[in-house]
Amino acid sequence: MTSVSVKELTLSFGAVTVLDKLNLDIGDGEFLVLLGASGSGKSTLLNCIAGLLEPTDGQIFIKDKNVTWLEPKDRGIGMVFQSYALYPQMSVTKNLSFGLKIAGLPQAEIDKRVARAAEILQIQPLLNRKPAELSGGQRQRVAIGRALVRDVDVFLFDEPLSNLDAKLRSELRVEIKRLHQALKNTMIYVTHDQIEALTLADRIAIMKDGIIMQLDDPMTIYNRPKNLFVAGFIGSPAMNFLRGVIEAGEGAPVINVEGTRIPLAGYLSENALTPGRKVVLGVRPEHIHVDEAGAVQNFDAVVDIEEPMGADNLLWLKFAGQTMSVRVGGARRYAAGSPVKLSFNMELASVFDAESELRL
Ligand SMILES: Nc1ncnc2c1ncn2[C@@H]1O[C@H](COP(=O)(O)OP(=O)(O)OP(=O)(O)O)[C@@H](O)[C@H]1O
Ligand SMILES: [Mg+2]
Repeated sequence: MTSVSVKELTLSFGAVTVLDKLNLDIGDGEFLVLLGASGSGKSTLLNCIAGLLEPTDGQIFIKDKNVTWLEPKDRGIGMVFQSYALYPQMSVTKNLSFGLKIAGLPQAEIDKRVARAAEILQIQPLLNRKPAELSGGQRQRVAIGRALVRDVDVFLFDEPLSNLDAKLRSELRVEIKRLHQALKNTMIYVTHDQIEALTLADRIAIMKDGIIMQLDDPMTIYNRPKNLFVAGFIGSPAMNFLRGVIEAGEGAPVINVEGTRIPLAGYLSENALTPGRKVVLGVRPEHIHVDEAGAVQNFDAVVDIEEPMGADNLLWLKFAGQTMSVRVGGARRYAAGSPVKLSFNMELASVFDAESELRL
């Protein structure tokens, strides 16, 4: 069942069109993440769903009801923003209950909902404090609680964790995941942090210039990016790209990168790799092996820089006239200038047409 459905949504600010006939269906209970760089239109889309922005054209349905022209409060949504926007003079309890009081709910029902939200978010000991007496993470929990007490079908989050320090952010990320597992509501979550997207989402919509470049589950996005943009956007450090031309090889086609011929044996759609085609081979740093015993491929490369990161090391190598990053185990050290042998895991590689930038 569809929970939120966006149909042919267009939004223009004057002459500038930010969203152009955008379509998106979000399943009941789904955790959908809108991921994209600054200015890609994530908040604009979320604000249209929330009813904070009036679309120029198109329609929005929530639970099969056309809500395009409904007030935010009548849409069955709860929204959590980056800035907590709590009432500073009110206690946590009052912050949580204020909206319900305005809506005219009976006090017993209000008390019940506040108690439940406080329990879920583990903020019971804080209920009598004012926002100024809370940490950033605690304030954001109260802000989430304010959406929670409204007992809505759909939660909308706009970068709720980006004001917090790294440690708190990863803690609250786990709590939001737990919250979703417990409540099973539909959640739409905006972020520019790919780790948040990969860890939280059932599906990720990757946005660029108001367009959804790919909509898939995190593993598909990571392993089979549809185009060069998504391939380069997801993954840290970024996927290595080698530009070259396809040539016929023994058994499997080969990509010629500045004279180095790399066989593409094992790549899934070898059929599309016709000789003469200009392509970009994409290989993630974690899918390249260094000095592996018994490797079929053995390409010569030279270590440029080693970046130790604790659990593993990142090597920057000179290979086929380019610089590449490779993730290796943390135990062995590599001196700058030392020669190494590379092999590529072609089953996990990506090949894109150089012109259309689409996956082959
Ligand atoms: N009121 C406005 N008037 C004109 N242009 C706007 C307005 N609001 C947003 N925009 C433009 O719309 C585009 C998308 O903005 P939006 O806020 O949706 O981006 P975003 O993906 O949420 O970015 P961020 O990660 O920085 O929050 C941007 O180019 C922005 O400049
Ligand atoms: Mg935004």
